[in-house]
Amino acid sequence: MKIVVINGSPAGCRGASAQYVQYLQQQLPRHRFQILEVAREIHKIERDEARFETIVEALTEADAVIWCTPVYLMLIPAQLKRFIELLFERNGSAALAGKIATAIFTSAHFYDHTAHDYIAGVSCDLDMAFVQGFSAHFSDLVTDEGRQNLLGFARDFLRQVSEQQPMRAAFPPIRWSAPTYDPPLPPTVARTGSSKVVVISDAGPEDGNLSRMIDLFERTVSQPVDRLELSELRMDGGCLGCMRCAENGVCGYQDDYAATFDERVLPADVVIYAGAVRDRYFSARFKTFIDRYFRNGHRPLEKRQAMGFIISGPLQQLATLREILEAHIQLFRSKRLGVVTDEDQRPEAITEQLQGLARAVDRWVEDPWFEPPTFLGVGGMKVFRDVVYENRAVLSADHRYYRDHGLYDFAQTRNRKWWLMTLMSLCMKIPILRPRTRKLIAAGRMRALKQVLVVQSSYSGGGSSQR
Ligand SMILES: Cc1cc2nc3c(=O)[nH]c(=O)nc-3n(C[C@H](O)[C@H](O)[C@H](O)COP(=O)(O)O)c2cc1C
Repeated sequence: MKIVVINGSPAGCRGASAQYVQYLQQQLPRHRFQILEVAREIHKIERDEARFETIVEALTEADAVIWCTPVYLMLIPAQLKRFIELLFERNGSAALAGKIATAIFTSAHFYDHTAHDYIAGVSCDLDMAFVQGFSAHFSDLVTDEGRQNLLGFARDFLRQVSEQQPMRAAFPPIRWSAPTYDPPLPPTVARTGSSKVVVISDAGPEDGNLSRMIDLFERTVSQPVDRLELSELRMDGGCLGCMRCAENGVCGYQDDYAATFDERVLPADVVIYAGAVRDRYFSARFKTFIDRYFRNGHRPLEKRQAMGFIISGPLQQLATLREILEAHIQLFRSKRLGVVTDEDQRPEAITEQLQGLARAVDRWVEDPWFEPPTFLGVGGMKVFRDVVYENRAVLSADHRYYRDHGLYDFAQTRNRKWWLMTLMSLCMKIPILRPRTRKLIAAGRMRALKQVLVVQSSYSGGGSSQR
């Protein structure tokens, strides 16, 4: 069988993901694997129609297709995202319709499930029969178990292809026709605040709704607004995963990204992301901007900000994108201000939502506070912490930051809590002490909480404090 592999890694055949396919090539010599380097060659594919057509021809001849890609910022690299957009824009999707497809991802298992769901959804949109993919930790191939699992997965997939009976992962199609949002614009309110709001806008000429939503928001918020138009920002390409930034946070690109980010985004109090949905995420240009955050490694931003989103597109139908946005807010330790979309058919309802977002900004800058993270943020930070520690020789800028800011909060660290728990564990092993120890542990937890109430009520003279 001829298996065409769409390699989404900017590192191409030198990347970790490609090694997984090369291993399959070695182990399954009866099958022919053709690897298309779409991420590494994306600029050429974009410019040169003939190159794009060669790729489409290869896809047409395929018996099955494998997306092989690293996870980048909870999704796929911007370069592969752009290739997917080209498939839709240039009618390349006809070459894929009816094919059986799957995916091999490599990652550190940080939000690999969202990347997987995205590729599964897009494959269904391209009319392919998508078989659940394989999400490897980037070093799984080194272990016997990792190799066995990979081979098992590939053999199972190939059988489904030869029998033409794939176990499809079902993703409901997106039904969406955008209502036109073109309300009368209200006068701009007085800029009485002094906090800094930056709107990162990906509105292109075809994104009328998005532009008008941003305009309305800007006129309604009483803080000065800096609109950063991604179409005007010089970004020479997507993150290449070269890891040069891992030592000192300096990116290899010499374009305008880093200075713009540092001077306009980092100091802001509030960041509003404004983008239009393209397939099941924002545009590849937006993804390029997001991928380039990698320069900051796995470190939270020094300044805690509030975040909001203005989105043109069917967000209600995109559970994975909603999860990514929520995780993004939490991992940046930000405050969620709200998400406004143009899904409501009544323009006045959209206007109300935008005004609501503007009011949320004004309230927050006056009285800032942060929600505790849920599993998305807490779990994500623990994965980051372990990745940084395990790879501290390479991720040295991250390592210094985690060490100096107390982010290595491993449960094994010998702090007061560790010693107390060790003592309690010993007591629990002695039958005569067990019931009393159990009570002590439960009471100790509550005592700490109650202590707060005692201290707080003594501060406020026993009365309730009201603002
Ligand atoms: C820009 C960038 C973003 C990344 N984002 C993620 C991520 O969100 N989740 C994850 O688990 N790994 C992430 N990684 C790690 C890669 O997925 C992993 O190293 C992968 O194996 C690289 O494959 P490649 O060498 O084929 O490009 C990221 C790496 C880079 C360079």
